[in-house]
Amino acid sequence: MDIDLAQLRDRLVTIALQAGEMITSAKPSTLSSGTKKNTADLVTETDRAVEAYISTELKRLYPSFAFMGEETYTPGQKLGPEPTFVVDPIDGTTNFVHRHPYVSVSLGFAVDKVPTVGVVYNPFTGKLYSGVRGQGSYVREVGGTGNPTTTTTEPKSGTGTATETETDTDIHRLPLQDPAPLTGLDSCIVISEFGSDRSGSNWKTKADTWARLGRSKDEGGAMVHSVRALGSAALNLCAVAEGSLDVYWEGGCWAWDVCAGWVILTEAGGIIVDANPGTWHVPVDHRKYLAVRGATSGQKELVEEFWANVEGTL
Ligand code: IPD
Repeated sequence: MDIDLAQLRDRLVTIALQAGEMITSAKPSTLSSGTKKNTADLVTETDRAVEAYISTELKRLYPSFAFMGEETYTPGQKLGPEPTFVVDPIDGTTNFVHRHPYVSVSLGFAVDKVPTVGVVYNPFTGKLYSGVRGQGSYVREVGGTGNPTTTTTEPKSGTGTATETETDTDIHRLPLQDPAPLTGLDSCIVISEFGSDRSGSNWKTKADTWARLGRSKDEGGAMVHSVRALGSAALNLCAVAEGSLDVYWEGGCWAWDVCAGWVILTEAGGIIVDANPGTWHVPVDHRKYLAVRGATSGQKELVEEFWANVEGTL
């Protein structure tokens, strides 16, 4: 099947901008949100409304393609080989509820389970990332509303229309700078996440690994520059694609959290491997990932060094 991937990307951009309007005009609160599997697994009416909008648009434009979305996922649903949109309407729901502006719309497209097109948009900062397999990845600014605590009566610079994206002039290919060599974990800034699974060996592996990553070398640690946790897997992958973060390590997120960012990262020269030591090629629905930025050298060595610091199994 011949699919015009550039046209598909442009359509995803238009949908992402419109979804962003829905997100920035909503008034989330910790009181009006609900939970899924536990009190750290949040969902809002806006998540559901945005996904309904996105899936309706995609069904209209591509009636024969499959759809997998966070809010309509049913246990047992598998990503198949058919062309599939893999969508997180709000990646960073916890931030959205708390009005912290690290939030994105994550629109991925996979063929044969391979991430092929990705669009990630933060409607608060106006940063829009896109990538097409084999055609590079890019970032541009399309407005944004600033911090979500601003009221909806203030003027907004973004209209969410396709015309707006056509007039953007500042489009940058990723990574943003020539990728420097990776010389070792002790010169890296790492991002990781709590996730919503806070019990058992998974949590212990995370906590012990973070402790080891940060600890001084004299005491057996890797002493990375720091470990961040910002709350959106899709934006984390985009930050690694840009080169503003070196490494992202996470166990527990889903295909819709990573599919779009995967294309953006790998088109920028980054790699994604298993979060647990040993496996260099993992599928998009693997749920445990280690992502490393593009580099002129040292990527493979850095993965091996990171794996040597994983305390247990995710
Ligand atoms: C979550 C975010 C978070 C990650 C979780 C995801 P959501 O997605 O990406 O950073 O740690 O694993 O589930 O729930 O905000 O769409």
